[in-house]
Amino acid sequence: DAGMRQNAVTATLVRRLLPPRRPWAHKGTGGRVALVAGSPGLTGAAALASMAAVRAGAGLVTVGIAAGLNAIMEVKLTEVMTKPLPEETCGIIGPAAVEEIAAIAETADVLAIGPGLGRAAETVDAVREIVRNVRCPLVIDADGLNALAGHTESLLETEALAVLTPHPGELARLTGRPLPVINADRLGAARDAATGLGAIVVLKGPGTVIAYPDGEAFINTTGNAALATGGTGDVLTGVIAALVAQGLTSHDAAVAGVYLHGLAGELAAGARLAGMAAGDLLPALPAAIASLHG
Ligand code: APR
Ligand code: MG
Repeated sequence: DAGMRQNAVTATLVRRLLPPRRPWAHKGTGGRVALVAGSPGLTGAAALASMAAVRAGAGLVTVGIAAGLNAIMEVKLTEVMTKPLPEETCGIIGPAAVEEIAAIAETADVLAIGPGLGRAAETVDAVREIVRNVRCPLVIDADGLNALAGHTESLLETEALAVLTPHPGELARLTGRPLPVINADRLGAARDAATGLGAIVVLKGPGTVIAYPDGEAFINTTGNAALATGGTGDVLTGVIAALVAQGLTSHDAAVAGVYLHGLAGELAAGARLAGMAAGDLLPALPAAIASLHG
């Protein structure tokens, strides 16, 4: 019975899932990541998630951002392309952006949505519409998840398979379960959410749980308290999206992404568990990948 199984995410397991970089690789084989993220005060989330996708091996990464923030993103990012989106008020996207986002998703292998998106009512409406209508694989994080709280039918209606990456507070909001109940049984909470929502649920925190809709679940073995700093979750979103773009199934990408993200945290922090910045994870990602393949 898959419902009772729980597996540890180990180096041996993840090594099998990761694609080797072939000599004949070109940026098409790395795949295309589309990301919708950022709002005023939270452009760093968009920068971190998109650069994490680059550092995890994606071939091409495009970040869709409210038009009023596009110039800022153009300065912050070099390797990542940007797509200015129609906005409601400055830096806030709404339903007017949905068509453009669908167009970006159409040419991408995966759409990641949510980091730093904000919780404006128009943004919430846009996220629900996108989740309902998009067909490519999804990674939904942060305010992308908050937008679905109380409206999880979007997840059940969509054809897309979604990886959800909530921290416990976001899972509480999404499922309407009290936070202490989630924290008392993280494995059960992730499993119930995954089966109930028909999505892959990555419940973050020490011992991140990855739960599949069929009830199978994994517990990660990498990572440390150095990761307890703003923006590290945004990096995870980009890593999982990059692995989907490289051809992993959403199931495998969630497992491998969580493992690599934690390993990058260990490599970046070393013995210094205080004072790591989320951006320090970025150069550690290729090292984490190499340590498995090397
Ligand atoms: N041990 C291991 N891993 C940890 C630990 C720890 N003690 N603390 C945090 N982590 C890891 C988590 O597993 C997760 O991968 O760090 C990451 C933190 O992710 P988030 O909780 O999403 O934090 P953050 O990136 O700052 O989120 C940015 O978006 O989700 C919203 O409300 C959130 O405003 C916040 C923003
Ligand atoms: Mg977060």
